[in-house]
Amino acid sequence: MKTNSANQELKKMVGITAADLIKDEMTCGIGTGSTVAFFIEELGRRVQQEGLRITGVPTSFQSKLLCRQYNIPVQDTQDCSRLDIAIDGADEVDPDLNVIKGGGAAQTREKIVAAMADQFIVIVDETKLVPKLNHAFPVPIEIIPAALTFVENKLQRMGGEATLRMGVRKDGPVITDNGQFILDVQFKPDTDLKNIDRELHQTPGIVETGLFFGMVAMTLVGSAAEMKVKTLKK
Ligand code: 5RP
Repeated sequence: MKTNSANQELKKMVGITAADLIKDEMTCGIGTGSTVAFFIEELGRRVQQEGLRITGVPTSFQSKLLCRQYNIPVQDTQDCSRLDIAIDGADEVDPDLNVIKGGGAAQTREKIVAAMADQFIVIVDETKLVPKLNHAFPVPIEIIPAALTFVENKLQRMGGEATLRMGVRKDGPVITDNGQFILDVQFKPDTDLKNIDRELHQTPGIVETGLFFGMVAMTLVGSAAEMKVKTLKK
């Protein structure tokens, strides 16, 4: 679902548009995923060809390696407390610009970086727009392995159906960049996800959820009908 070729064109379009928002001497949070990969490539081109001077703060090893490939100077999240801007993809975006993230298991660092940024901007193709979060994409929850059974039981009592995310070309569960597991959770359609998120944050063993409420300043959407980028603001 994440990689059909029409989507790729739209992802590329928003990635390139987002790179244009980055100005000289900015510190820039850099998200994770296939849409952000196009953003990083274009940012790298601007660094090389336009002499753009920026510091990137990547949210994953994947993005750090891409920054290295495109000669973008980077800093670790623990070495800064504020960013001018952060650009990231998303798995679902609702009409209030709340989002689900974590399809790449990076939501914990992504949320830290989003919270540090003066402006958090999400870039998506139009297939990510949904009437309500958890419409088709499960909520990724990063958990400490020792809490697996406890958290699974708690989620079940909350009406959630949790699946431990498994590795591809790696036996056993996905291990995040923080050394933890991911549970992908589908809640019942009438669930109040804001309440759920509050409760999850009070549950021992849960590191972070992929629910981002009230954090997004602007969303750039690649639209297939006109092959153009639309801007959504609150
Ligand atoms: C990673 C994420 C990604 O931003 C999200 O999964 C979107 O990915 P893509 O741009 O590949 O569709 O949250 O944890």
